[in-house]
Amino acid sequence: MNLAVLGAQWGDEGKGKIVDLLTPRFDIVARYQGGHNAGHTVYVNGTKFVLRLIPSGILHAGIVCVIGNGLVVDPQALFAEVDELARGGIDVTSRLFVSDKAHLILPYHRDLDLLSEARRGERKIGTTSRGIGPAYEDKIGRRGIRVGDLADRKALEQNVRDNVLARNRLVHDSTMNWQSVLDQLVLIGQRLQPMVRDVSLMLAEAQRAGKTILFEGAQGTLLDIDHGTYPYVTSSNASIGGVCTGLGVGPRAIGAVMGVVKAYTTRVGEGPLPTELTGDMGNRLRDSGNEYGAVTGRPRRCGWYDAVAVRYGVRINGLDALALTKLDVLDGLEHIEICTAYRCGSKTLTEFPSDITQLAACQPVYERIPGWSTPTKGVRRFAELPENARRYIARLEQVSGVPAALVSTGSERDDTILREDVLASKIADFRLKI
Ligand code: IMP
Repeated sequence: MNLAVLGAQWGDEGKGKIVDLLTPRFDIVARYQGGHNAGHTVYVNGTKFVLRLIPSGILHAGIVCVIGNGLVVDPQALFAEVDELARGGIDVTSRLFVSDKAHLILPYHRDLDLLSEARRGERKIGTTSRGIGPAYEDKIGRRGIRVGDLADRKALEQNVRDNVLARNRLVHDSTMNWQSVLDQLVLIGQRLQPMVRDVSLMLAEAQRAGKTILFEGAQGTLLDIDHGTYPYVTSSNASIGGVCTGLGVGPRAIGAVMGVVKAYTTRVGEGPLPTELTGDMGNRLRDSGNEYGAVTGRPRRCGWYDAVAVRYGVRINGLDALALTKLDVLDGLEHIEICTAYRCGSKTLTEFPSDITQLAACQPVYERIPGWSTPTKGVRRFAELPENARRYIARLEQVSGVPAALVSTGSERDDTILREDVLASKIADFRLKI
């Protein structure tokens, strides 16, 4: 059975670690959206790997990794990542594939990202400045350049010229030379060519041959272009719908959906965050959780667990189970708060508001839970968790509406509690490939 693993908060939930951990149960790991705005951090034997574009399953020898059509690919970033992995002794040759329909991020997209943010002034999104939004704008505007276009030199030349000249008119003082962009793209095309595939067909054939796929999301549901806190979102469908559109698979290919959530909440960039803690407690969570962007290094905004937001993630994605990460960050706290509803004027809301202005005006309604003094860090069996930690998890499950199949208690692969009973009951034949 195939499994989708995606973020059910505002990104940075620890998807990289969870995908890496589950990878040995699958044959293929396929990413379906986003670009190198993602930063999936995986620690193996004390070595840190930050994967931006390449699926987090790549660290396992022999696993096939796929970059779907739903992504925007900065080729330089991709090659840098391939080279870095090679230096770390991880060979990706002949097991990393890129969809011919994925769109390219070109140098002018980065300039346009910065320009667009500068123009928005106080209303800026706080993007990662990687050119993600402008590349997706070109895709929707039907002028984007796709990976497969690199094979047709004549059409490519026309497209690059039109695009660069149009961008020069938009970016004040820009004299970008289309010929040099084209020359670069020709070289890129040569290096990329062996990896290019019709990914939809490749995945269909693999499934017919009995192979299983782990679908890997980037960012999180609340950053989804449609279902997130628009306009403070990324430009792709980070939620479940992105799997079908971003890889060319049908909905029945998705056997189960696992939502990754932190034991608290974080967000990078602008936009509402109802449970945000700006004082000492916010700093405490940021320091113990090392909450700094994996891509940009920006400090993340931190707050208590927001069950209203997670329930929304459960609804949008049809989640079967949660993977709860960073429980150990809460070690030593006297008490912990869980947001179970929002107070908005005279109303109490239990559903995530569709209107972002209303969301921004909401105050969290908290339920206080006693903390624990015995550390959970590195605990690998559920029964060995302090009793109050188990109570906290049980309450999160109740207020979120789905059970936690995995609990992560540290950054290393093995610092994880796998609740096989929950996996087996919620994620059907998941045990088959252990
Ligand atoms: P963009 O994706 O660079 O356009 O940024 C849009 C918004 O999404 C900004 O608030 C970013 O901080 C946020 N964002 C993009 N990628 C990630 C991620 O991987 N983790 C968390 N936030 C992200």
